[in-house]
Amino acid sequence: MVGILAGCASVKTADFDDIQLYTLKNKAGTTVKITNYGATVTSIITADRDGKLADIALGYNDVSGYMNAVDKPYFGAVVGRYGNRIAKGKFSIDGEEYELATNNGANHLHGGVIGFDKVVWDAAVVDENAVKFSYLAKDGEEGYPGNLQISVTYTLTEDNELKLDYLATTDKKTPVNLTNHTYFNLKGEGEGTILDHELMINAKATTPVDIGLIPTGKIVPVVGTPFDFTTAKAIGRDIGKKDQQLEYGLGYDHNWVLDKGDKDGKMTLAATVYEPTTGRFMEVFTQEPGIQFYCGNFLAGNLKGKAGKTYVNRGGFCLETQHYPDSPNQPDFPSTLLAPGEEYKTSTIYKFSSK
Ligand code: GLA
Repeated sequence: MVGILAGCASVKTADFDDIQLYTLKNKAGTTVKITNYGATVTSIITADRDGKLADIALGYNDVSGYMNAVDKPYFGAVVGRYGNRIAKGKFSIDGEEYELATNNGANHLHGGVIGFDKVVWDAAVVDENAVKFSYLAKDGEEGYPGNLQISVTYTLTEDNELKLDYLATTDKKTPVNLTNHTYFNLKGEGEGTILDHELMINAKATTPVDIGLIPTGKIVPVVGTPFDFTTAKAIGRDIGKKDQQLEYGLGYDHNWVLDKGDKDGKMTLAATVYEPTTGRFMEVFTQEPGIQFYCGNFLAGNLKGKAGKTYVNRGGFCLETQHYPDSPNQPDFPSTLLAPGEEYKTSTIYKFSSK
């Protein structure tokens, strides 16, 4: 059932009258809440193996939390126009150089200073269990070329799948790379670290980075490294090992090259996560060629969540389905260029269960 709640009632100013919270609920009792501020998932309540419900998504109780967030964690938001980094905020298309806002040292991150996570989207209730968010990113916004019309539809199925369908069209050639930045803790938000969660990533290689977290352009096998999640292992098992990539990321904050990706446009199982104490299990399916596994290395224990509990360092992880970071400057990576007349169309599923 979809309902519009007054959950963002703390927003009193006229400018933010349009901000609403939408609730999707299925018969299994899973509840997902999403606001049109940043098309942000604010809450995901699922059952553990004993049927006990908990909110497994990090976030805030009201929209001012999202607006004023220190250290910009991007909790739950859709990030874009380009998810992750573009080196020095620069790229060229057909010989023309574009300069983007830089907001991560010298680099551009998650769409810039006011990315899609910080704008109010139009919302339309599609049916009982789906809500569609739309946004027109103007030509020149954050430095990007082209008016980009985008939409993201969130659907909660009776199979406990949260499906994200992204669409975009443009009137000038532009890079596009949309993803969702939900932080999960399958024990429940605020319930300590995620280091015991057992993660499998369906990928034999990653795109290693430099100290600014910009890919070097190489695609490197994971075998024999802490980055090997081809068989499920605890996130914390190898995270403390001496490894230059782990040092650069302060832990895992890297793009994995998915084994099947979007070659045939079909959904691929990208990752699974199992939390042993609650039995919660999550599967991620996508049409994207990559996934950013980020394990909350920048959470510094200075944010309190919805239940008033502190989000500790590594208190949540993100599995951001995506094209590889800095693709506009990496000719050997799959292209992120969208041209007029083309349609950017991609889907990702987060599926929840327990065992
Ligand atoms: C992404 C990046 C990280 C970090 C987070 C937000 O996952 O790769 O480096 O910026 O977003 O804190």
